[in-house]
Amino acid sequence: YPLKELNSFALNVTANDIIFAETIEQVKAFAQNLPEQFYILGGGSNSLFVENYQGTIFCPNLRGIDVADGENSFFLHVASGENWHELVQYCLTKQMPGLENLALIPGNCGAAPIQNIGAYGVEFASICEYVDWFDFQSLKVVRMQAQHCQFSYRDSIFKGALKNKGVVVAVGLKLAKSWSPTLKYQGLSELGDSPTPKQVFDSVIAIRESKLPDPKVIPNAGSFFKNPIVDHQLFAKIKAEFPELPAYPATGADMKLAAGWLIQESHLKGVCVGDAAVHKLQALVLINNNRATGKDVIALARHVQKVVKQKFNVCLEPEVRIISAQGEQLIEDIT
Ligand code: EPU
Repeated sequence: YPLKELNSFALNVTANDIIFAETIEQVKAFAQNLPEQFYILGGGSNSLFVENYQGTIFCPNLRGIDVADGENSFFLHVASGENWHELVQYCLTKQMPGLENLALIPGNCGAAPIQNIGAYGVEFASICEYVDWFDFQSLKVVRMQAQHCQFSYRDSIFKGALKNKGVVVAVGLKLAKSWSPTLKYQGLSELGDSPTPKQVFDSVIAIRESKLPDPKVIPNAGSFFKNPIVDHQLFAKIKAEFPELPAYPATGADMKLAAGWLIQESHLKGVCVGDAAVHKLQALVLINNNRATGKDVIALARHVQKVVKQKFNVCLEPEVRIISAQGEQLIEDIT
């Protein structure tokens, strides 16, 4: 079964089988007959298929948005197959602001909690009320309140303890009626004190379009690496040599560094392996220029890791999930 149209890297790979579920009953049928090897695919915008996948791809494609108008908040129940950006637009037109900083993020709503999507100062965790998760063992939908989802930077329980034990079927969002814009990101602070939600939405789109390649035009999976978190000692060492280093406080004394900047300062912008390249405008994004293979992308990613490690002594960890013939693997384990 061809996956080219189902992965935003547009890699020409196949899976042994693919199953789409449009209803909870179909999710249940899948769970009752769980294949030995399977991978759950949302919008396919955060997965790198290194080679043909020797298992079953499962695509939860449930649809529907329900809105409840509470006293202080709007409560949304959104099925996992809804497109994320369309949800952001829908909320804007229905006068329910709060998602505008997360405009234009590719992928489905069901994928949003998995890696706790975030951009321009807002994370999914901050607007999530609950996640409805279908448990493959009990064959029931379990409602997990946000505080139990172990959300952190590009991470959640769904990538950890609950991986492959079930599937997200819906998310519950809570959008406060007393909206105030989140403008701490540099490019947004220019909007002044009281922009409208639409102005924030438009600015986020303009910023993204100025730097991030549209996957439909230049196939890619967004940021390829996570922004690395380093201890204060290493941060101070790099900062002493490169005062312009962009960095943000993380937990404790740790600092989060801008991986894109580290890659750029390692002179890797535009560097290619086969048809895979480091994007020239945003170095954190690896692109498929036309006929790249998953192995090209892996070789390029390893090259980037090596050069950045040599120059800054910082290890870059992929943010994109890497899928070999046998399933998800660490980049170190890909042969
Ligand atoms: N930078 C460079 N050169 C580059 C890229 C970045 O110097 O080639 C510098 C920028 O000038 C800036 C800093 O690095 O000072 C951070 O760059 P940017 O604001 O573009 O954001 P990012 O850290 O590269 C993260 C997320 C993005 C998200 C943006 C905006 C991760 C891994 N990535 O990128 O998310 O859109 O912030 O909030 O956290 C994604 O996850 O796929 C994604 C695109």
